[in-house]
Amino acid sequence: MAAKDRNARIVGMGMYVPDKVVTNDDFAKIVDTSDEWITQMTGIKERRFVEGDVATSDLAAEAARAALDRAGVEATDVEMIIVATATPDMFFPSTACLTQAKIGAANAFAYDISAGCSGFIFGLTVADQFVKAGRVETALVIGAETLTKFMDMTDRNTCVLFGDGAGAAVVRPCDPPRGLVRSYLGCDGNLGSLLTLPAGGTRMPASHETVDGRMHYIKMEGRKIYVNAVKRMGDSVIIVLEQEGLTGDDLDILFPHQANTRIITSVAERAGMPMEKVFVNIHKYGNTSAASIPIAMCEAIEEGRLEEGMLAGMVAFGAGFTWGSALLRW
Ligand code: ACO
Repeated sequence: MAAKDRNARIVGMGMYVPDKVVTNDDFAKIVDTSDEWITQMTGIKERRFVEGDVATSDLAAEAARAALDRAGVEATDVEMIIVATATPDMFFPSTACLTQAKIGAANAFAYDISAGCSGFIFGLTVADQFVKAGRVETALVIGAETLTKFMDMTDRNTCVLFGDGAGAAVVRPCDPPRGLVRSYLGCDGNLGSLLTLPAGGTRMPASHETVDGRMHYIKMEGRKIYVNAVKRMGDSVIIVLEQEGLTGDDLDILFPHQANTRIITSVAERAGMPMEKVFVNIHKYGNTSAASIPIAMCEAIEEGRLEEGMLAGMVAFGAGFTWGSALLRW
């Protein structure tokens, strides 16, 4: 296939979540909260936690193996691995390189991208460009997070929101009109301070003081994030649709980042989509950041809700702030 004539599409997806389930009632035993508050305010009922020394590359590798298996692709055929994560195993080597070694993708180059909860859409957009350009035949895009290791279990404002998990997609060339139709990405670094993990980097290197001050945990201003997420996610869906001359009516299914059911409902309203066409699984996993969209897509495939020929949308918002949306002809 001549490179100029080709699109890129997802040919297989996989997911992995740890076995340990933590319910809202479990949190009510350690912070001043309740199942009622968490359910009403966020939609979350339970989430998954890693145990022991399990790290992000372990989850990424599990999801990647499942995706390769579904796609019927050998790890050695993969030429490019992108891991979108805000919670890498360590600063370096990258989680993508660690994952490459774990799955035996000896012929792939690999790197991480940091785009918060929007990371999977950013990663898919980059992989799409490589595949469309003919530079890469098989790419692996993974969203993987071990957020619970950065959660302050004494802070009820944050600890109830997040969970661990990973989702992966194998991306290969295809004939148009199938594949990634268009994506739209944006960010506003001026608002970055509203959602941070302050310590451990070059601005505030790890020290006894940073640990004593609990600065190596997620800090956020939830209300301001909420308002921005509703606006940016709503705008992003509409923009990417308008760029293709489409409306919410044309979408068969929407995969919003799973941060809060109230945010998701508002985005669906802005996009003019009934909730029946919006995939929601936040009740099972909480907010898994860059992993939330690929996990949702995997479950939709399992449930028979994502079928060949459908027009699927995805939309996300996260730390940075970053945001993005994409349209896929499945
Ligand atoms: N249990 C009980 N009460 C709580 C809890 C809890 N777990 N957490 C906060 N509260 C209390 C607050 O202390 C506050 O009490 P006060 O009025 O006595 O001070 C009250 O609830 C209201 O707090 P707000 O933060 O103003 O509540 P809000 O309506 O904004 O809802 C929430 C909070 C659910 C966190 C919401 O702001 C939100 O979802 N924001 C987005 C945050 C997010 O998604 N972050 C993840 C990364 S970004 C992304 O993925 C999009």
